[in-house]
Amino acid sequence: MPNALFRTKKISTILSEAGDGTHDTGNLTRVLTMRDLTFFGIAAILGAGSFSSLGAAVFDGGPGVVFLFVICGIACGFTALCYSEFASRIPVAGSAYTYAYASFGELFAWIIGWALIMEYSIGNIYVAYSWSDYFTSLMHKLDIHIPEYLSCSYLEAKKNLSEKIPNSELLRAWNTAPVFGGLRIILDIPALVINILITYLVYRGIKESRNFSNAMVILKLFAVLMVILVGGYLIFSRGLSFNWLPANAAGEHLFMPNGFSGVMSAVSGVFFAYIGFDAVSVLAEESKNPQRDLPRGMILSLIICTVVYILLSLVLTGAVAYSNFAGVGDPLAFIFEEQNLNIGWMQFLVAICAVVAMTSVLLVFQMGQPRIWMGMSRDGLLPPVFQHIHSRFKTPSFATILTGTVVGVPIIFTDKTFVLDFTSIATLFAFVLVCGGVLLIPPKQKEKGKFHLPYINGQYIFPLIIAGAIIIISIFAKSYFHDMFNFDFSANSDYAEGRVSFMDVATPQISLIIFWFLAIALSVMAFLKKYSLIPLMGLITCLYLLTGMTKSNWAWFIGWLILGLIIYFLYGYRNSALAKKSVLKTSG
Ligand code: ALA
Repeated sequence: MPNALFRTKKISTILSEAGDGTHDTGNLTRVLTMRDLTFFGIAAILGAGSFSSLGAAVFDGGPGVVFLFVICGIACGFTALCYSEFASRIPVAGSAYTYAYASFGELFAWIIGWALIMEYSIGNIYVAYSWSDYFTSLMHKLDIHIPEYLSCSYLEAKKNLSEKIPNSELLRAWNTAPVFGGLRIILDIPALVINILITYLVYRGIKESRNFSNAMVILKLFAVLMVILVGGYLIFSRGLSFNWLPANAAGEHLFMPNGFSGVMSAVSGVFFAYIGFDAVSVLAEESKNPQRDLPRGMILSLIICTVVYILLSLVLTGAVAYSNFAGVGDPLAFIFEEQNLNIGWMQFLVAICAVVAMTSVLLVFQMGQPRIWMGMSRDGLLPPVFQHIHSRFKTPSFATILTGTVVGVPIIFTDKTFVLDFTSIATLFAFVLVCGGVLLIPPKQKEKGKFHLPYINGQYIFPLIIAGAIIIISIFAKSYFHDMFNFDFSANSDYAEGRVSFMDVATPQISLIIFWFLAIALSVMAFLKKYSLIPLMGLITCLYLLTGMTKSNWAWFIGWLILGLIIYFLYGYRNSALAKKSVLKTSG
């Protein structure tokens, strides 16, 4: 049994099942070029993270939040290189799931596939909610008023009642909602409708979706560029650049007014802004030349978005004092409001483009999910109906409709914060396994025209980087390691007064202890096995970002994984195609 759980799928088997990687497989149509893939990457990356949660990130970190965008960009860059290595070797649909099958074996592959549901489907719930926020305010600008109780979720309105400073719109939603049988009717109708429309578009086919997506990307890049140019020009022409060095509580003028810890507290929102580049890899079977174009598309889209984020953060924090972004959910439009830069037409332009930007994110993620399920179904881990391809539209029709349902139904029952946390932890987890997986696959010869991850021997460099980090931290943040092992929380008033539990307070420290333990263990492994530096760096940076997750994030995530394992043992383990064909290769 243990060997069966870790049965790996040979790369040659995966390729032969899906065609040779360059011709139509007879199922999906190969129409996507490198430009399309880059556009898809941008379509998936630039969305709710930049248009919506950037406000909170700027408020937490001040202008210095640009450092966090650089750090997350680097972490995602290393991970993208690892995705590219896998995508170039295994150019078939399925993304990290397929890669895990070839490296870690079936059980981990299933776990990744299960975790990716959170990235693609649950992530889309957050984007749908944000889409609805912008759409509602755009309609408001056009003098069309959607009642508050029809444009927010029930849970959000209910949670708002216990906030210290309740949001007035959510309060109005609660107070004005019609009541039937004691239940308030509060429903995010725009979020539900956009989900139905996107599902229909994806169902209709890749070509239509691609055309639609390309047009949207051009429009949103134009809008972001306008924000950068108009905002940047006004910062200098009106002499606002002093906002980049705001005063902290002690009256010092600093780029990071809340220190590095303030910057780091924005990590989940910033990381969410980067999610999406990996979605490109699920389009392998629809690309004309996946080995060459997938890696290029992924990395190019990541570079473009990193530059955009850095410039946007600078424009935002230059145009308006960072401390004014408290509770601002539409930061790009906010800087042009009357009390700020006061440019009415820019507010309107940004609102339209935010709706467009988020539509394209929804589209790409909604396309990704069915393709992952299709790969899992081919392997027998999900029922055959998941790989059913529509005869006319050539799309995985059942899986597409199910994705729409998985996104749509929770829109009625959940709220934004909850789904955002869920998405980030699951995606980081998948990234960790992809980077780790690259360490396990054997090296390959460089082939002309194909992406090849450069091998840099990490034997000495990686342990030196970890040792260097420990030394620098010990010199510049003297109490860091002492605090990490100090579990006496009596000085913490929230804990002392029973507002938070021991595990709530202890989780960040426990995460850091595990992180440093893993960093040292990886250094030893790198030294002994001469591991490649790039996947090692991807692994360690993603592991570090995971230390920002809270106890409740971990609790929900672990619960989700347990549910997934139960389903695997009830269905996938018994129906695995690999087991049936006995194409086994055991590890461990
Ligand atoms: N990165 C995507 C967004 O910001 C998920 O919407």
